[in-house]
Amino acid sequence: MSILNKQQLNEFFSAAFGQAPDLIVQAPGRVNLIGEHTDYNDGFVLPAAINYSTWVAVSARADRELHVVARDFNSQRAIVNLDAPMLQDPAAPWSDYLRGVVQELQKRGYRLTGGNLLVSGNVPAGAGLSSSASLEVALVRALTELSDEAIGPTEAALVGQAAENNFVGCNCGIMDQLISARGQESSALLIDCQDLSTRSVSIPRDWEILIVHSGVKRGLVESEYNQRRAQCETAAAFFGQQTLRGVGLEQLLAAEGKLDTLSFRRARHVLTENERTLLAAEALSSGDMQTLARVMAESHLSMRDDFNITTPAIDRLVDILQTAGDGQAGARMTGGGFGGCVVSIAPAAVIPKLMQAVEQFYQVDTGCVPTLIPAKASKGAFSV
Ligand code: GLA
Repeated sequence: MSILNKQQLNEFFSAAFGQAPDLIVQAPGRVNLIGEHTDYNDGFVLPAAINYSTWVAVSARADRELHVVARDFNSQRAIVNLDAPMLQDPAAPWSDYLRGVVQELQKRGYRLTGGNLLVSGNVPAGAGLSSSASLEVALVRALTELSDEAIGPTEAALVGQAAENNFVGCNCGIMDQLISARGQESSALLIDCQDLSTRSVSIPRDWEILIVHSGVKRGLVESEYNQRRAQCETAAAFFGQQTLRGVGLEQLLAAEGKLDTLSFRRARHVLTENERTLLAAEALSSGDMQTLARVMAESHLSMRDDFNITTPAIDRLVDILQTAGDGQAGARMTGGGFGGCVVSIAPAAVIPKLMQAVEQFYQVDTGCVPTLIPAKASKGAFSV
C-alpha cells in the first residue's frame, strides 16, 4: 500500500523503528509534455513535476549505518554501512538506488551520518513517470538534511542521475531528476539540457493534464534505452561532435545516405524534437492549443517511426485521444518508451470526452487495460 499523507507515514515509521521520525521529505514524479530522448543529446525538454511522490521519513542513528524499510516492497529492509564499499543487492534492487545515492554523495565530499529511513510513495512504478528519479531525489534530500549538509537542487539532480548512471546501470539523462528537484506548481519547465538552465512555462488555468497508463508493461527498457543513446552518439561523432546539439538539422539532412540509416533516423528524431519542444513551450505559454496539439502529434510519429520506441497499443491509445480531442487536446507517449504512459493536455471541458473515449475503445481494440491518472503540475522537492 502506498502512503499518501504524513500521518500514515509517521505511524508506519514508529511501527518500524519504535520512534517518531525527525524529518519527512518528498520528491515528485514527472510527466514529460514533449522533448523525448533529447536530454542526453544536450537538447530541450518540457516536463512538469506531478502530484504523485516518493516520501522518505528519517531519524538519526548513533552508529554509521542506514537502516531502510521499503514500505511498497513488502516492507523489505536493507542495511547499508556508510564506511563499506557499496555493492549491488540483486535480492532488493530498490536498495541499489539508495547505495548509488550514498556512493555519489560521498564521492562529492558530503559527510553522511547514520539514520533510519522509511520509504513509500504513490508514483506508479515502471510507468515512465520517473518513480526512480523521485526516489533518488527524495533520498538525496533526506540524507543531506539528516547530515546537516547543504545541497542545491541542480546538484541534487546530478547526484541522482550519477547514481543511476554509475551504480544502477541506466545511462539516463538529467530531465527526470532535475524536474523532480525543481518543478513548479501549475507550470511546466523548459530545460536546456546543455547548460541546465530552466524557464518556467505556466499552463493555462483552465487546462488539465490527463495521463493514461497503457497497461503495457515496459520491457527491455534499459538495454533499448542505452542502445538509442549509443546510436545518437554515433550520429554526433559522424559530425565530429560530442552530442547532437552541435549538429544542425540541415547539416543532418544533407548527410542522408552517408550516415548509416538507423543513426540518421535517431538523429532526425532528436533534432526535430528540439524544434518541436521550443514551439510547444511558446504554444503552452500563449494558450495556443492548435500548435501544441500539432507538435505533440508530430512528436509521437517521430518516436514511432524514427526512434522506434512506441508499441502498437500505445499508438492506438494516442490515436483515440487525438480523435476524441478533435484538435482541442495534445496527446503523445511520454517517457523513455516501450510501454508505460501517454500524456494528454486539454481544456478542462474536453477532459471528460478523452476519458470516455479511452474507456469505450482502448481495451476493446487492444486487449490492454488502461488506467486514467489525472495529474496536476506540482512543486519539486527543492522548490520554494
Ligand atoms: C527516461 C530518462 C530521461 C530521458 C527520458 C526520455 O525517462 O531517465 O533522462 O532520457 O527517458 O526522454
